[in-house]
Amino acid sequence: MAIQRKGTSPATFDLFADEPPQPPAVEQIGPASFVLRGFALPLVDRLLPALESVLIQAPFRHMVTPGGHTMSVALSSCGEFGWTTDRSGYQYTRINPQTGEAWPAMPEVFMELALAAAREAGFVGFIPDACLINRYIPGAKMSLHQDKDEHGYEWPVVSVSLGLPAMFLFGGHQRSDSSQRVPLLHGDVVVWGGVDRLRFHGVMPVRQGEHSLLGEQRINFTFRKAR
Ligand code: SIN
Ligand code: FE2
Repeated sequence: MAIQRKGTSPATFDLFADEPPQPPAVEQIGPASFVLRGFALPLVDRLLPALESVLIQAPFRHMVTPGGHTMSVALSSCGEFGWTTDRSGYQYTRINPQTGEAWPAMPEVFMELALAAAREAGFVGFIPDACLINRYIPGAKMSLHQDKDEHGYEWPVVSVSLGLPAMFLFGGHQRSDSSQRVPLLHGDVVVWGGVDRLRFHGVMPVRQGEHSLLGEQRINFTFRKAR
């Protein structure tokens, strides 16, 4: 690079030299898995009000796993199907058991983001029918798990991070396989599908912090095709 800049004025040269190294916009973390850095940023102004209106209709709540453990992450959903867990198991439902009403419709801007991110990762034609919304306050985490409550696995999972940073764990096909640690920031989108669709993944406890738009929380959307 320096050779190409021979002959440029010292001022210009210094300008370039001071630029922090930029990570690549797309990082591949598996044969069919990608991190799209900052992909959601251009839509944040529309995502947040849409999120707010979804949460008025379907407020966050802490659910219990079949094993009787109360999740540290608070959950909501939108779209045709919402994901729930209780003592009887995990399932997708059309009705929010908390309100007795259908889950809120998936906002247009959510759909737009999910489709565009899937396309960017090579999954053209993805139309999610479920969006889980996870809220992590500092200390909240998600243990290693597979997303396997969907009827089929031909479509990817598209996962959007907003607010506080998190360390995403991307494992293998066995729980005991070692995990890659993938730091995720506000606006990053992870897409995993194809041969990677059933890989174990999780989130390490979110660290204390204050995000300029979202305060003391991390919000994650995961888009799936449930049926
Ligand atoms: C999930 O696996 O459902 C959530 C992943 C995340 O919060 O990044
Ligand atoms: Fe998951």
